[in-house]
Amino acid sequence: MPVTVRAASCGRQPPDRAGGGEAVTVPGFNTRAVHGDGWRDPLGAVSPPIYQTSTFWYATMAEGAALGADRGTGWYYTRWGNPTTRLLEDRMALLEGGQDALATASGMGAITVAMLAALAPGAHAVVPRGVYQATFQFARDVLPLQGIEVTFIDAVDPAAYEAALRPTTRLLYVETPNNPLLQITDVAAVAPTMDSTMKRMQKVCGTSP
Ligand SMILES: Cc1ncc(COP(=O)(O)O)c(C=O)c1O
Repeated sequence: MPVTVRAASCGRQPPDRAGGGEAVTVPGFNTRAVHGDGWRDPLGAVSPPIYQTSTFWYATMAEGAALGADRGTGWYYTRWGNPTTRLLEDRMALLEGGQDALATASGMGAITVAMLAALAPGAHAVVPRGVYQATFQFARDVLPLQGIEVTFIDAVDPAAYEAALRPTTRLLYVETPNNPLLQITDVAAVAPTMDSTMKRMQKVCGTSP
């Protein structure tokens, strides 16, 4: 069902989170989930084709070299990018109102990438004690090897995030409901702490950690 929203001033915003700007009518969540923002397969396939190739054909060595160096448009090697995966990433970004998305082959792959992308040596992370066991072990045993400090907090207490903040805090990790305890973190209650941390990070952007 179409819904009317206030168009956001920047970034892609799902209707339920959009604010400010002009009122526009956009397709509902289910329509966006199925049709994205107007994607059409060039050959007319209704369901997105699954490209099961690891490597793509290119016309010249120069084109291959450019694609291999992440320049130019086209597909080179599925580890670098794949049309099926890209479509999934685009669709998730659209539905979540994110600027972009990255699909990984497993949950721990996603968590590891997100943590390592956000944290550099000298940085600090806040992680609830009650998270998925492999996530806990990664935060407790692997992050410190990279010179990253972690404070473990009680997941169900949103105030614990604020209390654990340091000038070097770069990651506030939320898992809700968590596995296997099914504890709930009140995301709306943690959001202001997340926002202020994001703003502080943007100010120090480019400095380390
Ligand atoms: C909350 C949570 N995080 C991470 C994982 C790990 O996902 P994967 O097994 O795909 O690496 C799971 C798996 O059940 C999970 O429930």
